[in-house]
This record gives sequence, structure tokens and C-alpha cells, in this order.
Amino acid sequence: MSEETTITKADAVPSPRDGASGEALLEVTGLTKHFPIHAGFPIKHKVGAVQAVDGIDLTIHTGESFGLVGESGCGKSTTGRLITRLLEPTGGRISYRGRDITRATRKELMPIRSEIQMIFQDPYSSLNPRQTVGTIIGGPMEINDINPAGGREQRVRELLETVGLNPEHYNRFPHEFSGGQRQRIGVARALALEPKLIVADEPVSALDVSIQAQVVNLLRKVQEETGIAFLFIAHDLAIVRHFTQRVAVMYLGKIVEVGDRDSIYNRPRHPYTHALLSAVPEVNIDGADRERIRLAGDVPSPINPPSGCRFRTRCWKARDLCASQEPPLIQLGGNQDGHLTACHFPEEPTIAARGEDIVLDPALAAIEGTAQ
Ligand SMILES: Nc1ncnc2c1ncn2[C@@H]1O[C@H](COP(=O)(O)OP(=O)(O)O)[C@@H](O)[C@H]1O
Ligand code: SF4
Ligand SMILES: [Mg+2]
Repeated sequence: MSEETTITKADAVPSPRDGASGEALLEVTGLTKHFPIHAGFPIKHKVGAVQAVDGIDLTIHTGESFGLVGESGCGKSTTGRLITRLLEPTGGRISYRGRDITRATRKELMPIRSEIQMIFQDPYSSLNPRQTVGTIIGGPMEINDINPAGGREQRVRELLETVGLNPEHYNRFPHEFSGGQRQRIGVARALALEPKLIVADEPVSALDVSIQAQVVNLLRKVQEETGIAFLFIAHDLAIVRHFTQRVAVMYLGKIVEVGDRDSIYNRPRHPYTHALLSAVPEVNIDGADRERIRLAGDVPSPINPPSGCRFRTRCWKARDLCASQEPPLIQLGGNQDGHLTACHFPEEPTIAARGEDIVLDPALAAIEGTAQ
């Protein structure tokens, strides 16, 4: 039935690369978050659920930089919040350094709270405007009773320097800084407790394009120098390209493709990954037959996702099988170890393979005069 028949180990764990030790730091299996929807008066009852995250498996190795990409509404932030235990999962398992923390209580989480930190998307709202930079960065050390040699203030000044800010600005307030500088404060705050994992949720999306590269470079430098593992969440494949060793592509609560960075960028198999990549100008930049895939419409509602393959309502290759059977996330023939794809009719393992343009949005096609 499928054009692709070669199936190898479904549970293959993608191989770690430079900088990563190979030891699983965080392992997530079947992770699920359904937000209940309530209606009715005076007594509310559950009428449905937003299937924000629906059974995902992920492994982040010690020291590894891992990218999670997908359009807005695909469940990336929810995944990040589940991993940092800011949200309670509906199902699945989260294991950190071999310990099951899925249902760990606040108290049980205490010893590892400081080891997993988060950098938020919005540097404006994620910093307390009434606290000085010194308090914002040093506060977590106080709460966790961490007393660095030389004192906390000294450590905060060092951290300010690490993130490219003036240590003399210790007593300033967030409003005295630009957006890029505020995100640097957020980075310094995340670093203060010497975490083992940082979940960075679209840390540059709220910043001016001219500032984005600077903050990405800072994060990359921090990652390389400290060996802290990163889960870097982005909607844009261009941003994670230079930063991550492995990438997972998420669509409507599911991981549809995962693999080593080069494998994902050079040999994507899932149509959705192809579509996302076609929006990245630097990929196949000098290809004579440059691809143009435009995704029509928005991500469907996660309250009532399409049956079978969730991408089928926007996929140009969809057939009957796609509606009746959910494609498993597996390694396909031609893919390297650990590159897994969930598609019944995957693309050829090279972006150069397709000569013709695929323009899915008829309005766009008409505007550009490419309608057939
Ligand atoms: N607290 C919540 N209650 C109900 N629905 C939510 C909540 N948080 C997120 N969602 C929904 O879950 C889906 C995934 O959201 P999110 O994880 O923020 O996606 P992303 O970060 O990829 O944009 C969206 O449809 C969003 O509206
Ligand atoms: S399973 Fe079918 S609908 Fe889904 S991505 Fe593959 S071809 Fe498209
Ligand atoms: Mg988000």
C-alpha cells in the first residue's frame, strides 16, 4: 500500500551528537495534555477537550541542544510546560535522570526544580517590573539557599557579564532595558541555578529581527560553554538550524518527524517538514528548481482533530489510508538511524528530488500568477 515499506526499529533512539554525552537526561513517553472544556449552567460539565499534546515521545540527552518546531497552536508551549512541570500531564510519563517525575509532588520536585529552568517567549511580561535585575537574577539563589563562593551579588554580576550586560546595572529595573537586553536578563536568571536543562520557549520571537540573531548567538555560546542541555522551541526552522543537534517537528499535538539536524534539513521525509523547510530561504538557496510549498489555511482545531493523519486536511499527498489509519512514527528506508517519520506516503529523501512547485493556497497562487 505504502510507497515506503522498509520499517526498522520503531523505538530507535536518535543518536546523540557532538557535545551530548549520550546519557538520557529527560525522557518523555506517551506525554498527553488534554485541556477539558466545560459548559452548562448552573452546573458545568465537561463537553470536550483541547488535545494540545497527544502522546509524544522525546528523549533529550545530557548536554544536547534539541529543537522543537511547528506552527502556532501545535502544542509546543504545552510540551515545554509539561516538561518543566508547570502543567500536570493528562497521561504519559516524564522521567528525569532515570527518575519518574510525572506525578511528583511539589516537595518531591524541590531537589530538581533548580535543575530544569525555563526561558519564556515574552521578555516584557516574564520579568517582575518592581524588582531590580539583581533581585530577579539573585532571587532564585536565595530561595534555593545557594551561596556561591564570593557571594550572590558577585555571582549575579558575573552572570550579567556572561550574557553581555553591564555588571554595573545590577540595581536597574527591567523597564530600563531594551527587549533584547531583557531577554538577556531572562537568560541570566535561568543560568543562576546552574541548571542541567533549559527549556527556551520561542525566546526570540518577540524580539526585533535585528536582535534575534544576537540572542540566538548568546544562547548558542552559553550552550557550548556550559554544556547545559536545551529544549529550544520555535515555530521557525531557520532559527533552530544553527543551534540544535536534533530537531522534532510537531503538528497538532503529535511529533511527525524527528532526527539529527542535518538529516531533517537535508533529507526531510514528512510533507509537513517539507512545507516548513520551503519557507526557510537559506535551505536550497541556490537550487535551480527551488521549492515553494505554501500551506493553505490554519492548523485545524485540536478539539476535534482530523482522523488518521492529522496533517491530511492540508496535505497534497493525502489518500484514503491517511484518513483511516494514523501513521506510526518510524524509521523509513533510506533514513539514517534515529530519523523517524510518521507518514504513509513520505517524500523522497532529498529536497532536490521534487522539481515542481507545490502551491497549496489557491488565493496565493492566483496572486502570484502561478495558478494552473
Ligand atoms: N490552558 C489552556 N486551556 C485550554 N487550551 C489551551 C491552554 N493552553 C493551550 N491551549 C490550547 O492548546 C493548543 C496548543 O497550544 P500551545 O501549546 O500554546 O501551542 P504552541 O506553543 O505550539 O503555539 C492550542 O489550541 C491552545 O489554544
Ligand atoms: S500520512 Fe498521508 S496525509 Fe499524512 S502526511 Fe503522509 S501523505 Fe500526508
Ligand atoms: Mg507557544
